[in-house]
Amino acid sequence: MKVTVVGAGAVGASCAEYIAIKNFASEVVLLDIKEDYAEGKAMDLMQTASLNGFDTKIIGSTNDYSKTAGSDIAVITSGIPRKPGMTREELIGINAGIVKEVSSNIIKHSPDVTIIVVSNPMDTMTYLVHKTTGLPKNRIIGMGGALDSARFKYRLAEALEAPISDVDGMVIGGHSDKGMVPLTRLATRNSVLVSEFISEDRLNQVSEDTKVGGATLTKMLGTSAWYAPGAAVSGLVQAIACDQKKIFPCSTLLSGEYGLDDLCIGVPVVLGKGGIEKIVEIKLDEAEANKLKESAEGVKKTNSLLEL
Ligand code: 2OP
Repeated sequence: MKVTVVGAGAVGASCAEYIAIKNFASEVVLLDIKEDYAEGKAMDLMQTASLNGFDTKIIGSTNDYSKTAGSDIAVITSGIPRKPGMTREELIGINAGIVKEVSSNIIKHSPDVTIIVVSNPMDTMTYLVHKTTGLPKNRIIGMGGALDSARFKYRLAEALEAPISDVDGMVIGGHSDKGMVPLTRLATRNSVLVSEFISEDRLNQVSEDTKVGGATLTKMLGTSAWYAPGAAVSGLVQAIACDQKKIFPCSTLLSGEYGLDDLCIGVPVVLGKGGIEKIVEIKLDEAEANKLKESAEGVKKTNSLLEL
């Protein structure tokens, strides 16, 4: 299993690190346009191999896509991250050109690849990869829901004063401050609905804190977060590489599912060796369905800014 990670910034390097630590891939190629940068990060990471006990070989490259040839999975983290006060949507101008070029370079050397898009605005960048590469739709996946759900579980555990391993919950919708739809109604603590333990007001607060999860960290760090994004990507990569058939909320091209069409947005999917093997249509209540519809309208508005 060969995995390419394009962009050796904080998110890309964290992806490479978490993938390597999980020790399921034979090779990770880390690529960046900055001279020697990916090579340096790869060398530093390789020097953790004996300490962390992994055999995955991490190779760095300055923009030489021939090194990525034969990749099974490629993760696109390239582009600029947001600064405090910015929305993810504001990054479209610079990131669209970068994502288009990167995805075309990847496919030249790995025609059977599965692409995971991380660059923001992520749902729109995922749609752009669909529109410009011609890859089958099951092989293009946007990473947002897995991260947003991890942030949701963190906030739920905090509110419940429970260990995170006791908590389950999912966020669907667009990967944006306004577009996320945390499914509070379905969240559980060890199979019991969380509404049994905390008030509606507290749950609404959990939901609001989840939606601004990325913005909160951007304000604190001066740039966007990297550990949880990297870990979320590694979970998706592992599910595909190890054919786990796990359900994650991911941005995927919808053609009528959830009453939505011609956009990529976060919904639950089954991930396995075929990439997105199934879109899972869960029964939403009216309020959730309306929120998802509103979220889709926001994503479509951003998509309309693409020069296709
Ligand atoms: C975040 O929410 C990187 O968009 C990503 O942190």
